Amino acid sequence: MNKKEYQFDYEVYESIDDLTEEDKWLLDEAREVTQHAYAPYSRFQVGAVAKLNNGEIIAGSNQENASFPAGLCAERVVLASVSSLYPKMPIETIAISYFNNNGESNHPISPCGICRQALQEFREKTKQPIRLILGGMHGKVFIIPDAAMLLPLSFTSTDLQ
Ligand code: THU
Repeated sequence: MNKKEYQFDYEVYESIDDLTEEDKWLLDEAREVTQHAYAPYSRFQVGAVAKLNNGEIIAGSNQENASFPAGLCAERVVLASVSSLYPKMPIETIAISYFNNNGESNHPISPCGICRQALQEFREKTKQPIRLILGGMHGKVFIIPDAAMLLPLSFTSTDLQ
């Protein structure tokens, strides 16, 4: 028997003020984009803003539905938009923020399991890590150098071969 260990490094900042100008701008955009969410059921509004390799900025927000499982997270909305507008264009960074109408918005949230899977495959398709900036409306900010780090031992397209 062999024991294996998995660990990854990420950065923790006390607030948005400690980020570079570009990262600050991106996270601010994500905060604004939370206002475009359609989240009448959870009242949890998520914004995701991607900066692509070609410099384009693409935004997404969560879009819910009365048939709950039909709802989409902000992260998958933004990935689908990027793929549709600029097929195969790698994403440099995605900033993700949220506004919680039911409580506080004071700590980073990180992508749900399904979105981690979608981020992993996008990265595999474009052959470039996707950096994440995670932060609420205030409070600490996390920077994760590669979203795929959030999904160790993932199931991937190569498993289907
Ligand atoms: N949601 C996102 O958009 N992204 C996440 O990373 C977590 C959750 C959405 C899904 C649903 O519309 C609401 O937030 C509550 O789960």
